[in-house]
Amino acid sequence: MARFGLVLAMALCLTISVFPDTTTAQLKPNFYGKSCPNVEAIVKKVVQQKVKETFVTIPATLRLFFHDCFVNGCDASVLIQSTPNNKAEKDHPDNVSLAGDGFDVVIKAKKAIDAIPSCRNKVSCADILALATRDVIVAAKGPSYKVELGRRDGLVSTAASVNGNLPGPNDNVDKLNKLFAKNKLTQDDMIALSAAHTLGFAHCSKVANRIYNFNRTHPVDPTINKAYVKELQAACPKKVDPRIAINMDPVTPRTFDNIYFKNLQQGKGLFTSDQVLFTDRRSRPTVDAWAKSSPAFNAAFVKAMTKLGRVGVKVGRNGNIRRDCGAFN
Ligand SMILES: *[C@@H]1O[C@H](CO)[C@@H](O)[C@H](O)[C@H]1NC(C)=O
Ligand SMILES: *[C@@H]1O[C@H](CO)[C@@H](O)[C@H](O)[C@H]1NC(C)=O
Repeated sequence: MARFGLVLAMALCLTISVFPDTTTAQLKPNFYGKSCPNVEAIVKKVVQQKVKETFVTIPATLRLFFHDCFVNGCDASVLIQSTPNNKAEKDHPDNVSLAGDGFDVVIKAKKAIDAIPSCRNKVSCADILALATRDVIVAAKGPSYKVELGRRDGLVSTAASVNGNLPGPNDNVDKLNKLFAKNKLTQDDMIALSAAHTLGFAHCSKVANRIYNFNRTHPVDPTINKAYVKELQAACPKKVDPRIAINMDPVTPRTFDNIYFKNLQQGKGLFTSDQVLFTDRRSRPTVDAWAKSSPAFNAAFVKAMTKLGRVGVKVGRNGNIRRDCGAFN
């Protein structure tokens, strides 16, 4: 009996340790090749239309995908609306502020997909978000790549699950590495994905400490470029309207490119979590390499996005295909 228990425990351990690999093995680019062969074209068309209407769709969708994958895996749990009985992921205070256009693009793409009878309720919201994310990157002139598909939508979404799982603007390299490692992402993946800050914007409150009250002896973070400090202080005066937002990439905010890394070399990283990638000698060589070579950065970014897309993927009974991306079936 005791031995049986031991064998069972070992079998369980084995199952748990091989589980991540078996889940990734099931993702593949042409997952919907038979059930909904036009899914990619449909999503792309919706994304292009939406981007034409509002540029914010681009950073919002990218941010939404990242948040989804880092909290509970890439399972569209971030899209779930809160109900009186459940405060969902999206309503955690660290939520995807300004990501409304990201939610909207997924909902519109889902509607367009489901309008085709053979596709109806065949494509997961998690996969739609993954495809839309690739398409917004391309719309911002970033690299294109094949998106692995076959994720199921998650059955759980809680605000509490966000706690401690998203990187913060004041994180250092150790903290960032730890958070990314939890998702099987390396330091290089972390640096590549941080470059998503080549697009989008942030509220002034997120940088106020760096430009007004860094520490007792230095009101301003000495790692920020002097001219950039002036620019930030002008855009974000002390009593700024909390709704005011500033570009994260001060040079090419509407283009997905490696200028993000050139900015870091010049002390023009908006957050501490950006600038430390250059000030920390462990990550600086990578920043320098990708500032120099756009193809090297693009290749690293595509690799990191593909790995990000495999995080915590749900298969079988751990998920389903949601009829409404914002609510459980
Ligand atoms: C973020 O959460 C706050 C509550 O903490 C909520 O009022 C707001 O609507 C949420 N934002 C989004 C984009 O869901
Ligand atoms: C403030 O930050 C600067 C630069 O990082 C550092 O040299 C200094 O020791 C810090 N002062 C205090 C009081 O922490």
